[in-house]
Amino acid sequence: MLDVLRSPRLSLGPTSEQFEEAFAEAVGAPFAVSVSSGTAGLHLLCVAAGVGPGDEVITSPYSFVASANCAIYEGATPVFADIDSVTLNLDPAAVEASVSERTKAVVAVDIYGYPCELDELRSICERHGLTLIDDSCEALGATYKGRTIGSHGPSAVFAFYPNKQITTGEGGMVTTHSAEESRLLRSLRNQGRADSGGWLDHARLGFNYRLDEIRAAIGLAQLDKLEEILERRRAAAARYAELLGDVPGAGLLCPDDDDHTRSWFVYVVALPEGSDREAVISELERRGVQTARYLPCIHLQSYMRERYGFSEGLCPVAERMSARTLALPFHTGIDEDDQAYVAEALRAALE
Ligand SMILES: Cc1ncc(COP(=O)(O)O)c(C=O)c1O
Repeated sequence: MLDVLRSPRLSLGPTSEQFEEAFAEAVGAPFAVSVSSGTAGLHLLCVAAGVGPGDEVITSPYSFVASANCAIYEGATPVFADIDSVTLNLDPAAVEASVSERTKAVVAVDIYGYPCELDELRSICERHGLTLIDDSCEALGATYKGRTIGSHGPSAVFAFYPNKQITTGEGGMVTTHSAEESRLLRSLRNQGRADSGGWLDHARLGFNYRLDEIRAAIGLAQLDKLEEILERRRAAAARYAELLGDVPGAGLLCPDDDDHTRSWFVYVVALPEGSDREAVISELERRGVQTARYLPCIHLQSYMRERYGFSEGLCPVAERMSARTLALPFHTGIDEDDQAYVAEALRAALE
C-alpha cells in the first residue's frame, strides 16, 4: 500500500491489474474486473445483460437488498422466487415457475457462502434465453461440484466489505468467462470510456465504479492470506457446530455435501418454529452477546412494499425461515472462549 502511495498511479494502474489477475487465478475464471463494491458489480452485470425498463429479473427474497436493487437501478421489476428451506438458496422449481415473457435475467445468490444450484439454474436460463448472474458476494472460496465458484461460467460477483472473507474496506470483483464482456465491464466501470480512446472519449453511458490502486494493494495482500482465512473460518464454524450440537432448539445451517462446499461468511442458527426470537435476542443481549436478525426478506422491506405492493405470503418458505434465523458473533479471529460463552448464553436463552 505504501508503495502505491509513493507511486505516480493512485487509480487505473498496475496494482489493480495484478489484483484482478491474482483473483481470476484464485477462483479459476479467465477474466476478473475489479469494481468499487459488490453492488456496483451486480449493477454492471445487469447493464451488460441488457436489463431495462419493462423487464423482470428473478431473484431470491432471502438475501441482501443489493441482489434485487441491481435490477431496479435499470428500471426492471424484481420478481421474487421462493427458496429451498434447507439450503436457503433459490429453489430452481420456483424460478422456473416465475419465468414470464418479460423475464430477462436471474440473479442467483450463494447465501451465507453456500453455492446455489448452478447447473439447474443454468439449464432453466438456457431454455428460456435468460442471463444467469451469480451473486457470490458471500461465497469467495466456496466450491460447487468440486470447482470454485467463479470457475463455472456464469458471471459472478464477489464483495470485499469488511465482514467478507477478504476485505479492501469497500470493493468488489466481477468474474466472467467472456473476453467481450470483460472489455465491456472495464468500459462501464470507467465512465464508459472507449477501449482505445482517450480520457475524454466516452463510447457509452458508464459509471465511476473503479477500485483504486490503494484498495487493490490491500486486496492483493488479503488474497495472499485467503487459504489461511478460509481455514480459520472453517475451524471456527466447526467449533460452533460442536458447541451447539446439543443445544436444543439451535438448528444449524445445512452441512456440505458432495456438490456443495460452503465458504463460511456468517454463523446463522435457525430457532424452532414458533419460538420467540425477540425474547432470545433480548436474553443474549442481557448477557452481552450481540446478534442480528439475519436476513429480513427483501420483498417485505418498506420501500419494496410501497413500490410494488409486495406483502406477506409471497414467498412463504423465505418468510418462515427469515423469522427464525439469527446470526451469532462470527469472524476470522473469533476467540474459542468467546464462542463457548456465546453457546452457553444461547443455551440459557432457549431454555
Ligand atoms: C448477497 C450479497 N449481495 C450483495 C452484496 C453487496 O456488496 P457490497 O456491500 O460490497 O456492495 C452483499 C454484501 O453486503 C451481499 O451479502
